[in-house]
Amino acid sequence: MRSIKVNLDKKYSSSYEIHIGRGIADRIALLIAKNHKAGRHVIVTDDNVAPLHGKNFLTVLKNIGLNADIIAFPAGEASKSINTLLDLADKLLKLGADRGTCLIALGGGVVGDMVGFIASIYMRGVPYVQIPTTLVAQVDSAIGGKTAVDLPTGKNLLGTFYQPAAVFVDLSFLETLPAKEFENGLAEIIKYGIIDDEKMFYLLEENMEAVRQKDSTLLVKIVENCCRIKKAIVEIDEREQGLRRILNYGHTLGHALEAVSMYKMTHGEGVAVGMIAAALISAKKGYLDIAEAKRIKELVEKAGLPVKIPAKLPTQEIITRLQMDKKKNGDTIHFVLLKKIGMPFVNGGVEKRLINEVIEEMKNDARAT
Ligand SMILES: NC(=O)c1ccc[n+]([C@@H]2O[C@H](COP(=O)([O-])OP(=O)(O)OC[C@H]3O[C@@H](n4cnc5c(N)ncnc54)[C@H](O)[C@@H]3O)[C@@H](O)[C@H]2O)c1
Repeated sequence: MRSIKVNLDKKYSSSYEIHIGRGIADRIALLIAKNHKAGRHVIVTDDNVAPLHGKNFLTVLKNIGLNADIIAFPAGEASKSINTLLDLADKLLKLGADRGTCLIALGGGVVGDMVGFIASIYMRGVPYVQIPTTLVAQVDSAIGGKTAVDLPTGKNLLGTFYQPAAVFVDLSFLETLPAKEFENGLAEIIKYGIIDDEKMFYLLEENMEAVRQKDSTLLVKIVENCCRIKKAIVEIDEREQGLRRILNYGHTLGHALEAVSMYKMTHGEGVAVGMIAAALISAKKGYLDIAEAKRIKELVEKAGLPVKIPAKLPTQEIITRLQMDKKKNGDTIHFVLLKKIGMPFVNGGVEKRLINEVIEEMKNDARAT
């Protein structure tokens, strides 16, 4: 098992460790018992993960003498809502959870974001640990302390910054992950290559098939690398005042597409298309060589992710959604653009006309979804 320390400014949050390994459930339980002592531990998960991994992990916790319970809510983005949050609070109260309770987020990004949020406000804050079970959560959402629920008008509109007490990345959870969910994680991995690590981008170009086959050696290397990139960015800019915004590469348009498709497009699919769009905008504005934009599109395609915007999504609605993004500033829409692969920057405002042009281009001969 490898460990990476996330060093944070004590004014806001305490530093914590990300532990990475394979088949480490027993060691995770022992570390929780040793380092995150609590009167009660409550695993919060969703109803897909509960039967696959939740019940087993509950047994592991109980076997080492912890006072542990499990709560599951329906899987999926639709559950990332204030209603689920209230329901969870109710269930925690009924279990007798108090300020001496530690929550354990066992699941994908939806579980992690929800548990982080409720941990930040339940009885004015209780500790929580992240045990991510999707690739998206292992390389991205479990690290960095952004918590949220969605509102009908948009994603992640209610939330807090609240760091976990520890993150435990066990790659063996990925064995049960459906291929489509795995591909969603590949979108975030490609993003790290684009924004920070051209060498990893090249490694992915050369080895995407093996990565998709979940090659063990490659996956450990890539997941650990992504965790290191994210932790380094979070250490510099915990509260997303500047540098951390580059992690939103591909997300501005991605979020809008997810919402306009009524979440039929997954987060990873939205980000995949959004990353290509941001590269095309960068090229059209003269910042990026078009050949680099082409490399991005080809890698996204190799990962099994979509490269086109579904023709049936109305362009005007996508633009209206973009204008609702919480990252907008006044009337201009911030985009993370590229000078080259590995060199992103935040652009103060991209003209609507240009966004419109790129969306229309990316819709051409799109498969209807
Ligand atoms: N907080 C952050 O910094 C951050 C960063 C990126 C994404 N996010 C959020 O994360 C969410 C997306 O996360 P996600 O892609 O993990 O989605 P998810 O949590 O909905 O999980 C995807 C699906 O996989 C299932 N699943 C999870 N683990 C499994 C396993 N091991 N085996 C089989 N099935 C499993 C889940 O039940 C679900 O059906 C979005 O809400 C997004 O906004 C947050």
